[in-house]
Amino acid sequence: MSRQKIAAGNWKMNTTLDEGVELVSKLIAAEKDKSVLAILAVPFTHLLTLDKKIKSKGKLKLAAQNCHYKNSGAFTGEISPSMLANLNIPYVILGHSERRQYNHEDNALLKLKVRAALDAGLKVIFCCGEDLDVRKTSKHILHVKIQLEESLFSLTAKEIKNVIIAYEPIWAIGTGETASPAQAQEMHNSIRRMISRQYNKRVGEAMTILYGGSIKGSNAKDIFAQPDVDGGLIGGASLDADEFVKIINSFQEEE
Ligand code: 13P
Repeated sequence: MSRQKIAAGNWKMNTTLDEGVELVSKLIAAEKDKSVLAILAVPFTHLLTLDKKIKSKGKLKLAAQNCHYKNSGAFTGEISPSMLANLNIPYVILGHSERRQYNHEDNALLKLKVRAALDAGLKVIFCCGEDLDVRKTSKHILHVKIQLEESLFSLTAKEIKNVIIAYEPIWAIGTGETASPAQAQEMHNSIRRMISRQYNKRVGEAMTILYGGSIKGSNAKDIFAQPDVDGGLIGGASLDADEFVKIINSFQEEE
């Protein structure tokens, strides 16, 4: 089955709006593989301006980096799924390890957020992944299984079609240390089998699974060549237009 190839950039808390506009201008102008969907997860403050800029630019879409689990209420400083949907922002990242760590988001809360985002009509990029201690004890697959079970597996087969999974081993985020292509493939294949078991083989085969953690122009090709890796969620390297374009252009030709 051929799945959509995706290169998603997670800008995190980086760029002023002016810098963001400049980065997007360079990305629009660059020569890119037209079969790859590029998603930019930008700060909330940039969404409207960048949306106008990329309108009708086909394979370039925007994502928010988080949202609340309620659509409105007394939650000072929060942004709701319906606010994003109302702006026609198609994607939201949920469960990033930085939010799990610094904002104490756990699997139960993420289940509520996923439900709210899907109900509002957003597509979810759901992050999972283990830290170094878990990896060292070889419990990484079990760890990710529990994350998926507790946050995603109450969704129906129809609902989970609007979820993209991003496997991001915490020990590889921003560290310069990438999972090897074999380590990425092992986890991605395990995740695909978990989805097939929970739903059915068709749903498992259709699931887009991205790898994230120190992807650069120089290592993307080997990781993207793995059969169960459908693309990447890229942090640092997505802030450099040339580097991100190199990553977008790192997928193999369709056979
Ligand atoms: P880096 O690519 O900077 O390691 O970040 C990965 C990440 O966290 C993407 O969400």
